[in-house]
This record gives sequence, structure tokens and C-alpha cells, in this order.
Amino acid sequence: MTVDANLGGSAEAVSASELAEIGLRYEVDGAIATITLDRPDKRNAQTFATWSALARIGEHIPDQVRIVVVKGEGPSFSAGIDLRMFTPEGVPGQGSFVSAASLGETTFERRIADAQRGFLWLRRPDIVSIAAVHGHAIGAGFQLALACDLRVVAEDVKFCMKEPALGLVPDLTGTKPLVELVGLPRAIELCLTARVVGAEEAVRLGLAELAVPAGELAQAVQDLAGALLATDRGAATATKRLLQGALGRSLEEQAIAERREQIVRIRTLFASG
Ligand code: CAA
Repeated sequence: MTVDANLGGSAEAVSASELAEIGLRYEVDGAIATITLDRPDKRNAQTFATWSALARIGEHIPDQVRIVVVKGEGPSFSAGIDLRMFTPEGVPGQGSFVSAASLGETTFERRIADAQRGFLWLRRPDIVSIAAVHGHAIGAGFQLALACDLRVVAEDVKFCMKEPALGLVPDLTGTKPLVELVGLPRAIELCLTARVVGAEEAVRLGLAELAVPAGELAQAVQDLAGALLATDRGAATATKRLLQGALGRSLEEQAIAERREQIVRIRTLFASG
């Protein structure tokens, strides 16, 4: 089933044609939702409209969805933020960094927080998000891949955290997962040199779970989704929640969290009435 994405909600509805204008596609097929960055002629460059639409997709994901795949159309996953943001003219209707620079502190923070909402929901415990990454994943593109739980990459992948080289910081929620995945020294090295990380190194560093030839990326993601879906949803959600909390808890606190989740599981599975 392909959903005509009338996403409604508190914000203005996003129609499929509006999504197309923004450069996104959104499809739901049973338990799998697929979000495709679809502005291949501009290497899937992202704008504030992209992030706002991503947030609204997240708010309206149907209950049956357990897997969210994020991928890119054309030669690149995403070349990052739309470079028009660096010009005085900016992106039509969305301003530019030049106009943003004079915003008040609260408004400015809210604007960035709104952008980050497009990324944060991908870590919800009740779904598993998979980035299918090929070609360039630069800046916001790298951060979108980092926002997902898992990354499957094509052998031509090129990750690059370009923001510091442009005088900025990565602010689309990418710094925490990056440090968690590769460790602090490597994260500093990658960000402050803005060097490119290819597929083999990405797997070695833990940035990607799996690297496959470009022609096999879609099948590899489908196979992974199938394997994830074979696990009971309640157990998968509770286990992801436990694992996500593990780094922030002591061993004793984690043991308590395990007990609590397990009591719910056993009662759900075995209570006789
Ligand atoms: N924004 C807008 N347009 C972009 C773009 C971007 N980020 N990246 C590529 N494009 C456009 C090009 O302008 C070009 O458009 P035209 O055909 O109209 O001229 C088209 O996409 C194809 O680009 P290339 O000819 O450059 O394609 P390529 O395959 O030779 O190179 C690339 C691909 C290496 C990704 C190169 O396009 C590139 O370096 N892009 C810019 C990457 C970048 O610096 N991104 C910003 C990162 S920082 C960030 O995301 C977050 C932040 O700052 C807060």
C-alpha cells in the first residue's frame, strides 16, 4: 500500500504533492515505512522544509509500522544542507543563515529545535530505523544516517561531517550517536578534519552494520527488515528501550530496568487471566 501522505495534525497537512515539492517520498507497505530523499538533481540537499516534513511524518507514522527505512534517490544519499542557506537570498520561503543570524535567542533556538525534531523520532523504541546509505552522506546527510538505529551502506558510500569545515557545528542530533559509535577521539578526528569515511572503514568503526555492493543495497535492507520483523514487537520495543538506556545507567540501575521490563513481558505472555 502506498499512502497518500495527508499527514494532517497540529501543523498544516503535508500532501504527497507538497512532499514531492520538498523533495521527499513517503510510502507505507505493511510494517515497513520508507522515506526517500528525492531531489537527486540537487544530490538530495536538505532544507528546513525537509526537516519539518520528516517531523510530521514521524508524528503520523501508522501504528502497524515497525521499521522505517530512510534512503536517497540518485547518486547520493544526501549532500547535506542546501547550500543556498549560505547565501543572502537563501531558500525561497525559508530564509538563510544570513537572515537567521539576526534572530533573537529564543526564536533561533526554537528554529533549530524544530529542525532537530525531524531526526529525533527515528530513535523511538517502538520502531527500528534503518538508513540505506549510498554515495555521499555529507553534513546533514551524515547526521540523518546517524539519527537512524542502523546503517546499511553501499560500497561507494562517502560519509563526511563537513560542518566544522564550514565554520559551523553538527547540530542535527548527530554528535551523540557519532561519539557513541566511534568513541570521542575518533569523533573529534572525523569532525575536525571533515575527512571522508568509506564503506570498509565505516563498518570497521561501527558507523555501519553492513556494507554491500551498490546493486545489493535494497535487498540487504529488505533482508534486515525481515529479520527484525521476525521478533515479537513487544519484546523488540522493550529490549530496544533497555539497550538505549544502558549507557546512561549504572550496572545496578540497568539490572533494575531489566527486571521491570521482564516482569511486564512475562505477565503479558504468561498471565492466565
Ligand atoms: N545544496 C544545494 N545544491 C547542491 C548541494 C547542496 N548541498 N550539493 C550538490 N548540489 C547541486 C549542485 O549545485 C549541482 O546543481 P546544478 O546541476 O544545478 O549545478 C547538483 O547538485 C550536482 O552537484 P555536483 O555537480 O557537485 O555533483 P557531484 O556528483 O560532482 O558532487 C557532491 C557531489 C560531492 C555531493 C558535491 O555536490 C558537494 O560537495 N556538495 C556540497 C556538499 C556540502 O558542502 N554540503 C553541506 C554540508 S554541511 C551541512 O549539511 C549542515 C550544516 O551546514 C548545518
